[in-house]
Amino acid sequence: MRKILVIGIGAGDPDQLTLQAVKALRSTDVFFILDKGEVKSDLVQLRRDMLDAHIQEGTYRLVEARDPERDRAAGGAAYSPAVGDWRSARAEIYERLITDELGEDECGAFLVWGDPALYDSTLGILEEILERGAVAFSYDVVPGISSVSALVAKHRTGLNRVARPVQITTGRRLAEGFPEDVDDVVVMLDAHQTFRRYADQDIDIYWGAYIGTPDEILASGPIAEAAPRIELLRAEARERKGWIMDTYLLRRHPRD
Ligand SMILES: C[S@@+](CC[C@H](N)C(=O)[O-])C[C@H]1O[C@@H](n2cnc3c(N)ncnc32)[C@H](O)[C@@H]1O
Repeated sequence: MRKILVIGIGAGDPDQLTLQAVKALRSTDVFFILDKGEVKSDLVQLRRDMLDAHIQEGTYRLVEARDPERDRAAGGAAYSPAVGDWRSARAEIYERLITDELGEDECGAFLVWGDPALYDSTLGILEEILERGAVAFSYDVVPGISSVSALVAKHRTGLNRVARPVQITTGRRLAEGFPEDVDDVVVMLDAHQTFRRYADQDIDIYWGAYIGTPDEILASGPIAEAAPRIELLRAEARERKGWIMDTYLLRRHPRD
């Protein structure tokens, strides 16, 4: 039966590949790489560099496909259907790759940014393909170092405080309000710098962009003081590179 490996490759630093991930790379016959368009071509190159660094050329095949575009303008009630359509379009592409490019007894791999368990649709898509039943395969997941772990490590802080919870959420959710009953909140996928809404509160921010890559930028401090600084750093970086990937932890001071 065909075998698929979903390999977490860390959040940007090639040294963050685990030994398990390197072993998985070495047991793969075919790598599937999804190109998200020009602005993200740096990320495709990074995956190629990882393969060059860890496996011998000529021992594997590389198949590239274009990732379908998501309707990013869809908001409100249209948001979930737009994400659903995008996921189904991806499922069709993945299904075709597995059926056409992978032999019956071969092993194929998807290289997933960070950890496949965090804000990534690959596992859901593979389940969707299995449900459709057109192609059979088994699959395993190799965990990776997520951007969340990389962020707090760079800032030399923890994710939670003693016996307290931490929540990982999106910019879209944070815009609806600071989560109840949680004072440590990690925010991902935030194109709108939603942290600015909380600049008048007693909160510290730990921010990082392109963490683990040569372009890495870090900033932290009380949010009132750090927010304008981050805004500037973010705008400059976005202008320079054409795209940005950033994550931050908001740590609200105890109110008691
Ligand atoms: C689709 S999610 C994928 C998360 C990934 N699976 C992980 O474990 O980190 C993409 C988001 O992850 C965050 N991210 C990923 N890599 C990052 C990096 N190197 N530096 C800062 N943020 C990063 C950003 O918030 C970005 O919008």
